[in-house]
Amino acid sequence: MKNIALYCADPKRIREAEKLAADLKLNLLTSPPLPADTLALTGRRLELRRSGESEPIFVDFANPKLLYRLKHISIKKEAIARAVGLKKMKTPPVLDATAGLGRDSFILAALGCRVIMVERSPIIAALLADGLLRAAATARIASICRRMTLYQADSRFFSLPPDFRPGVIYLDPMYPARSKSAMVKKEMRCLRDIAGDDPDSGALLDWALARKVNRVAVKRPKGAKNLADRQPSFVIKSRKHRFDVYLAVHQTAMDDNLKALEF
Ligand SMILES: C[S@@+](CC[C@H](N)C(=O)[O-])C[C@H]1O[C@@H](n2cnc3c(N)ncnc32)[C@H](O)[C@@H]1O
Repeated sequence: MKNIALYCADPKRIREAEKLAADLKLNLLTSPPLPADTLALTGRRLELRRSGESEPIFVDFANPKLLYRLKHISIKKEAIARAVGLKKMKTPPVLDATAGLGRDSFILAALGCRVIMVERSPIIAALLADGLLRAAATARIASICRRMTLYQADSRFFSLPPDFRPGVIYLDPMYPARSKSAMVKKEMRCLRDIAGDDPDSGALLDWALARKVNRVAVKRPKGAKNLADRQPSFVIKSRKHRFDVYLAVHQTAMDDNLKALEF
């Protein structure tokens, strides 16, 4: 996605927009004409507007679909919960090393996990930060968002806060580009246009497997090859995806070259 600009026509938010534009190294526009792809700071939210798309992309943890899912949420029902090893009285701290728009992290936080999210695309991280800020002001979900902390960085080169020792690293890198494009959801298409194809996802798995954690869980499309050709300890299947789970014991046996590293 080239030529993206930040657009803000709300005089009350201009200062904020100036700071955001400087942080993201984008041109700030306060009136049309606008480029085809625009990050817009409105009175309500930060959103990405794309040519050819009728709806903007933004993070909304209070959307009705997600609220409905929350109402009926349970460890048993959520394959992701089983993938990270959640039990009723056991909610491991999770490092979501590919945060994206934060939906998976939100589900884990709703189930009680403290989650640190790391997202390397500055634009995607800005959309997520804005969603978290609005969620923090929404009574029904504020307590969930208090368990979520976002950093903009490449996970492989990021130092975690000293008081956070993850039990689990969760990875959901971009799906292989050959996924049938018409079926790939709009948000995912957009994430890929902004962040690219994550060609280093194999290296990210190797990095994760070398950390001192109990498990690494990787979300994959059905039928996709194992990441970095590494055989998981076990697989959890869900309706749309599968989760490849690598247990710590298994890792050491699998590859003697991988020495467990502290963060
Ligand atoms: C498929 S999306 C994740 C979607 C996310 N699970 C959700 O629920 O919204 C993959 C994201 O991982 C990010 N990513 C890939 N490699 C990364 C890395 N090494 N460090 C941080 N973020 C990374 C990409 O920029 C992209 O936004």
